[in-house]
Amino acid sequence: MTDSDNAPLPIGIFDSGVGGLTVLKAVREALPHEDLIYLGDTARLPYGTKSPASIARYATQATAKLLEYNIKMLVVACNTASAVALTALQQQMAPVPVVGVVEPGAMAAVRARPAGAHLVLATEATVRLGAYSKAISARDAAARVREQPCELLVALAEEGWTNGDIADSIVRRYLDEAEDDAFKADSIILGCTHFPLLREAISTAVGDAVEVVDSAGTTAAVVREILSSNGELAEGHEPGSLRLLATDGATRFARVGGQFLGETLTAEDVHLVDL
Ligand code: DGL
Repeated sequence: MTDSDNAPLPIGIFDSGVGGLTVLKAVREALPHEDLIYLGDTARLPYGTKSPASIARYATQATAKLLEYNIKMLVVACNTASAVALTALQQQMAPVPVVGVVEPGAMAAVRARPAGAHLVLATEATVRLGAYSKAISARDAAARVREQPCELLVALAEEGWTNGDIADSIVRRYLDEAEDDAFKADSIILGCTHFPLLREAISTAVGDAVEVVDSAGTTAAVVREILSSNGELAEGHEPGSLRLLATDGATRFARVGGQFLGETLTAEDVHLVDL
């Protein structure tokens, strides 16, 4: 098969739940003609509180499921799975390219605030691995990084409670825990793909002087770059298709996912799969 024979194949994207749709949305905007298959492993969400061994197993199984759809590229739209298992997933998928979200997120933050004080909001597992500290320090030795686990924000995003008093006070509580006189952030990194759903609450809490960064846009740019250099960009003028898979809770997934994508989705639009 030559490179360009792969062009019509879909791109696979997965996360533990609806969070990765923030990445899917950016990929769809950057590459509107690509067919996309999204898998939310909702039966086992959250990933962020699980052990690295469990997270790696879940990520491997999600990847194997998407491989069944003959994808030309995999986007691991989950910081937790990227932090724990990216190298293993790249080996599992080879020669199909696999893109994670931690490196693009770090790239976006360093670009936005060189020598900055970055506060990373992420899951417990991502923080435990220091994934963003490592990725940022490798790019910017002058940067300071603090990482704050914010597991409840995943639940808020999945519930669709992304603004209002409850979201505001939970966000405030995490920020108070993270900052002190020795560390005032000038950049907030949304180091979990669920957190852009709470961007408004987070931006309001930190104020205009603080840059709020996520990995969606830079990840989409990396996807475009790889497909383009492999000669695998989809051709044609038709909008690409979107197939949604979940491992449980099709109705909830459709409700929250539809709200976020700005489309009316019903449970029938979400296909339940077993990993
Ligand atoms: N959205 C995921 C991330 O980017 C994980 C959320 C979770 O399942 O804990 O880390």
